[in-house]
Amino acid sequence: MSDDQAKSAHCHREVIDDDSMGRASRRKAQARRVGHRATNKSNPQFRVAVPGDAQRIVQLLALAEWEDPATPQVMGAAIALDLHLPAPGHSVRMVAQDKHGNLEGALLAGPPDEWIQGLTRFGSSAQGHMAQRVVDLEMVVVAEGSRGHGLGRQMVEHAAQDYRNRGYRLMSGSFYAHLPHLERYYQHLGFTVLGPGQPLLLSVPPPVSDVVSYPAEPTMRQMWRPLKSTVGLKTVTDAHQTLQVIDNVL
Ligand SMILES: CC(C)(COP(=O)(O)OP(=O)(O)OC[C@H]1O[C@@H](n2cnc3c(N)ncnc32)[C@H](O)[C@@H]1OP(=O)(O)O)[C@@H](O)C(=O)NCCC(=O)NCCS
Repeated sequence: MSDDQAKSAHCHREVIDDDSMGRASRRKAQARRVGHRATNKSNPQFRVAVPGDAQRIVQLLALAEWEDPATPQVMGAAIALDLHLPAPGHSVRMVAQDKHGNLEGALLAGPPDEWIQGLTRFGSSAQGHMAQRVVDLEMVVVAEGSRGHGLGRQMVEHAAQDYRNRGYRLMSGSFYAHLPHLERYYQHLGFTVLGPGQPLLLSVPPPVSDVVSYPAEPTMRQMWRPLKSTVGLKTVTDAHQTLQVIDNVL
């Protein structure tokens, strides 16, 4: 079992260009409503997961809803074996540890592999930029007793800063449309949340000068957050339509 397989178990996206139709699905969601308990969970530490964390990470990941229920176990096995294929450093498995050494949260992020593959017709430059500039927030999960105290926010901020420091420009993600509270949650974290099934559009710069579209199934909502101030929306108009596309990423 490779790191890649662990990821594709819960994350599936297809890429199409503007001229064709396609589907993307990525199923991740939560099993229970967010709770706001009055416990004190101050000063968490954030660190990269190590093999000894695998069992606890499986427990944490199991608190979320997955398209493939085996995903937490598969991911746990990859962490236990310290598998970081194919690109060490691209994927982040982060844990939040309280002052007693308990792991209270986990975050998974990595390159949007299928998007990268789907950029083939736009050339290796666009593919390389996608791999080095776009990170997909695959999952953030907080132990039930530690929710509502900003731990989720801190983990996302920590990961965003880490990727920003490494030159990444955009954080993407998606969640089930049937979990409406996650819209406000992610908006609080600085994400623009698209409507159910709405495609995420990225401009491809000259000499290609095109728009690449990442569609979602109607059950999914995609989201994006700039990691650099130069990334933003621009309007693209052709004979048929006017589109708002994310610019300065590729
Ligand atoms: C989603 C989850 C990670 C949130 O973790 P958390 O530590 O409780 O969240 P935070 O305390 O950091 O909240 C961050 C912000 O979102 C807001 N927020 C949290 N829950 C919210 C909710 N249900 N509705 C609206 N906003 C919410 C908080 O008010 C906070 O904003 P603020 O800093 O401006 O006050 C946690 O509930 C969880 O693990 N859920 C199960 C797994 C899951 O669904 N993960 C996401 C899958 S895509």
